[in-house]
Amino acid sequence: MKRTHHCNELSKKNEGQNVQLIGWIASIRDHGGLVFVDLRDREGITQIVFDPKSFTELALLKDESVIEVTGIVRARPGDTVNSHIATGDIEVIAEHLTIHNIAETLPFPLDDANADKVNEDLRLTYRYLDLRRRKNLRALRLRHNIARAVRGYLDRQDFVEVELPYLFKTTPEGAREFLVPSRQNPGSFYALSQSPQQYKQMLMVAGIERYYSIARCFRDEDLRMDRQQEFTQIDIEMSFIEREDVYALIEGMLKEVFQATRDMELKTPFLRMPFQEAMDRYGSDKPDTRFGLELVDVSDVFENSEFKVFRSCLDGKGVIKAINAKKLADITQGELKQLEDTAKMLGAKGLAYIKCEQGAWKSPILKFLSDAEQKALQEKLTIEEGDLIFFAATDWSHACTILGRIRLEVSKLLVQRGHLTISKDQFNFLWIIDFPLITFDDEQGRFVATHHPFTAPVEEDIVKLKTDPQHVKAQHYDIVLNGFEIGGGSIRIHQSDMQSFVMRDLLKLDEKTIQDRFGYMLQAFKFGAPPHGGIAIGLDRLAAILCGADSIRDVIAFPKTQKGQDLMAKSPSYASEKQLREVHITTVVPQK
Ligand code: AMO
Ligand code: AMP
Repeated sequence: MKRTHHCNELSKKNEGQNVQLIGWIASIRDHGGLVFVDLRDREGITQIVFDPKSFTELALLKDESVIEVTGIVRARPGDTVNSHIATGDIEVIAEHLTIHNIAETLPFPLDDANADKVNEDLRLTYRYLDLRRRKNLRALRLRHNIARAVRGYLDRQDFVEVELPYLFKTTPEGAREFLVPSRQNPGSFYALSQSPQQYKQMLMVAGIERYYSIARCFRDEDLRMDRQQEFTQIDIEMSFIEREDVYALIEGMLKEVFQATRDMELKTPFLRMPFQEAMDRYGSDKPDTRFGLELVDVSDVFENSEFKVFRSCLDGKGVIKAINAKKLADITQGELKQLEDTAKMLGAKGLAYIKCEQGAWKSPILKFLSDAEQKALQEKLTIEEGDLIFFAATDWSHACTILGRIRLEVSKLLVQRGHLTISKDQFNFLWIIDFPLITFDDEQGRFVATHHPFTAPVEEDIVKLKTDPQHVKAQHYDIVLNGFEIGGGSIRIHQSDMQSFVMRDLLKLDEKTIQDRFGYMLQAFKFGAPPHGGIAIGLDRLAAILCGADSIRDVIAFPKTQKGQDLMAKSPSYASEKQLREVHITTVVPQK
């Protein structure tokens, strides 16, 4: 090693020792007679003192150059002690300097406060510099510590870590996939695995009993703050278990993760909430329960309403839901317009509202409301001076989703105004349970599996599979933390006939697709398949929440941008004609 110590190690007890340090110049200050260098490595910072007369080459050095120094540790005089750094009561008097790399002027400053103001694209183009920042190094180490705690825990619980293929086959009914052309099989494609779901189930048929892996998953999705095309799951599958076993296992695992990374004792068991209740109260299947602002069903208030919009909604078996955005009556026209646009984007025809200002109600729909209706609303929504009420009148599912989103937007406006605090150090875990087995998908105009097609229905609903499939509940659970779905899983189907029934009769897949895509699985379930189930935890999301980051990009070493690009390495990029020929691909230039 070219060092005797890390840059966070030396203290007064090393006084007089000859030491060797190596790292980056965090800052260099020329005080005439003496030059002070803050030398930084992965662990910390140490101040080095140079006599410029003996080290003329110092003049060549800019910040972030890499140097190696030997010298003597000396206690700093009383008034120069720096209590902000671990080594603040000593400095090293340089005796020898080796320059390993002279840095050019950096494209942006690396201190956390200034770099955070730099455009993210620029930081991602020079991600290797961005990662030198304390904050980013800390995030990568936190991620490492999560993975280590997970491995230790699962190992003690008798799990076997198995690596599963990333080159899989394309399967319908999931996220959009990345296709990989096969050179050896002209005209055929692999898909990059969107999760190891089918393989881990095959491991159960194979008798592994308890499997986990920290698996990379690939989905060609539109990216958001909590989504990347490549992300990592803590993927788990177990045989001979029930839902309760999964809850207990994951709660135990997260307890250890929080202990290891935040030195924090989580309270278990976590709360559980049926899907229906989550939608009713929070308008989301991943509610942030750190604040209230709950949705209220006010359909009964408008049973005899004169307001045509509400009246016809109720006649058409719709509902009227409302939310009291407490203290937001001072909303600006611009903010109001934005909320309306958001609601419309989600399919709302409008977003009726009532403001309670200076003792009076103001609203475009006030003229339609009878005294009795106003009184009933006042009571149901506890309307007070300064409040702002929003309404959504449509079918139950849309009304919940629309106001669920408004609830989140409203919470941001309230936080900005200082009327609400949402702490990043509060961790509200929640199991969402009792999901429907199938959900109607507006875009595709058909029923799809709410979780995935391998999820088992609950025992008592099996009788309804043929007669009333929409009301069949699934043995599916999601785990939610502070408004993010950090994991999801289910007890699986392990009988061939049940699996084909779900694919053929509920999801309406044609026989050829079923055989081509899932034939091997249906067959495997005829050769002794154990009852089994599992879950996958999104490691990126968990890590982001644990370190208080707003985006999962902050906890990924080399993340992609919104457009799926790696700005540093400049991918994706072109392939040569020769490469394309080898994989039997011809390209067509897109027409303008
Ligand atoms: P699911 O699709 O719900 O389930 O994924 C599990 C968890 O993975 C995380 N996640 C993502 N994180 C970042 N970027 C993405 N694009 C992304 N997509 C998903 C989420 C999510 O809760 N095979 C099943 C699990 C099972 O049934 O065992 C599965 O993949 O935190
Ligand atoms: P209108 O009579 O269409 O001008 O609507 C009066 C008010 O009701 C406006 O503020 C609209 O935004 C609102 N509105 C219209 N349709 C709905 C709906 N389905 N749900 C909630 N508010 C609505």
